[in-house]
Amino acid sequence: MNMLVVYFSQTGTTKAAAEKIAEIKGAELMEIKSEKSYEMSYWKTVFTSLKEIFTKARPELAGVIPDMQKYDRILIGCPIWCASVPNVILTLLDAADFSGKHTALFTTSGASKPARIAMKLKKLYPEIRWHRPLDANGVTEEEIRNWM
Ligand SMILES: Cc1cc2nc3c(=O)[nH]c(=O)nc-3n(C[C@H](O)[C@H](O)[C@H](O)COP(=O)(O)O)c2cc1C
Repeated sequence: MNMLVVYFSQTGTTKAAAEKIAEIKGAELMEIKSEKSYEMSYWKTVFTSLKEIFTKARPELAGVIPDMQKYDRILIGCPIWCASVPNVILTLLDAADFSGKHTALFTTSGASKPARIAMKLKKLYPEIRWHRPLDANGVTEEEIRNWM
């Protein structure tokens, strides 16, 4: 079974979680980046993120659109930004073909959990076979093994 861990991370927390999950699951690891940089102060990132949420922006992905059809299961990781996923995750979901793929979201955050966000994604992308999301804050090896 081919499994992919694809993630976006601004400050490295999700990257560390993604690396741990990929290692335990024996999955391929892929980082996505946006063309635009979010290297800015915390509050400026919050403002930028809110603006992207309200305008339904789809920030350009840097690099090629990954081919998701090569994988049986796809784990998407990102930080929670303003109670949502960073909009670049929506760019990825729009641009790459996830249809019919077993897919799940994992997040890192200050405190927020991914359940509500995952429900929204399920509504937005009904063609994807969504599975239970994982709160990757301080996640244990056992929790990762028991997931998906
Ligand atoms: C723009 C922005 C918005 C955020 N919004 C939330 C939030 O709504 N809830 C929360 O618990 N944490 C929030 N955080 C904290 C991040 O989710 C947390 O620091 C995350 O682990 C960062 O992951 P990264 O290092 O992979 O970028 C926010 C951080 C930023 C920069």
